[in-house]
Amino acid sequence: MSPFLLTRTLPEDATDAALRADVLAGLTRTPKTLPPKWFYDARGSELFERITELPEYYPTRAEREILLDRAGEIAAASGARTLVELGSGSSDKTRHLLDAMTDLHTYVPVDVSESALRLAGEALAGERPGLNVHALIADFTAAIELPQTPGPRLVAFLGGTIGNLVPVERAAFLSAVRALLAPGDALLLGTDLVKDEGVLVAAYDDSAGVTAEFNKNVLNVVDRELGADFDPGAFDHVALWDAEREWIEMRLRSRVAQSVKIPALGLVVDFGEGEELRTEVSAKFRRDGVRGELAAAGLSLTHWWTDREGRFALSLSLAG
Ligand code: SAH
Ligand code: AVI
Repeated sequence: MSPFLLTRTLPEDATDAALRADVLAGLTRTPKTLPPKWFYDARGSELFERITELPEYYPTRAEREILLDRAGEIAAASGARTLVELGSGSSDKTRHLLDAMTDLHTYVPVDVSESALRLAGEALAGERPGLNVHALIADFTAAIELPQTPGPRLVAFLGGTIGNLVPVERAAFLSAVRALLAPGDALLLGTDLVKDEGVLVAAYDDSAGVTAEFNKNVLNVVDRELGADFDPGAFDHVALWDAEREWIEMRLRSRVAQSVKIPALGLVVDFGEGEELRTEVSAKFRRDGVRGELAAAGLSLTHWWTDREGRFALSLSLAG
């Protein structure tokens, strides 16, 4: 068993304050929105894992294919001794990378989901004697202080999670990542690619209804944490493709006119019949767009790999 350390970078009351602020701001504006990071309590993390196994949800399989093919090249190109993974979740696909990174000293998974970090971190520490696992409960959109570990450092952001940030958030995020990199460090970024609308919408509106349950889970989180009385059954799951912005939007559509009480905020939120609350965007990318966004943050793309069907891309970029 190798060392497993779990560090909470923000006190629990700060997380609670962040949820309150997001719910207050998001549900009092028009149109209503909630940020996707609140999907991921223990149940939400479990539902996401079920999504990755759905026949319609191709991104996980496509990215795994690239990692299986390219892990050796990624390990050699980065020469990393520390792997930091943002939004690491189950760290499942990361295992292919860890297998190839034979000189790795420390793996630093970073996630808002404590349950996901514990499950993944404890399993990895058990499986890989000699590897230090230092997990951080942290919000990757806020300033992250990384543990002092040997370089070079590879920061991985997999799964296409960067697409869950809107462009202005992505720019701020990439600049913050750039600031974490010293000369010789690298960023490994997973981006889902623009493709046929039918394939995209099916991936976010699966026939088994798992994505619908995942989407509605954010209402369960607000009910539990803020004492609200959202009835998830009173909302329909909506997934649509915005061809202009090139992103999937997930929404919750109120089936009826209703008022929802949120006692912790002293707030009553009115929904009209058919009114929609945006819960997530999932942007899809093109190579030139990724290169441009990286360059704007001071990162230069050195490698671009896709799966055989060209659905998903992994890119490696360097500071400078
Ligand atoms: N990288 C994994 C998991 C993707 S799911 C994969 O490719 O399968 C997205 C993950 O990011 C979840 O584990 C979620 O808890 C985490 N996450 C979402 N928003 C976050 C935020 N703002 N800060 C830290 N983690 C976040
Ligand atoms: C985590 N993220 C990349 C997923 C996505 O595809 O945007 C979250 C998700 N939402 C619905 N299904 C999966």
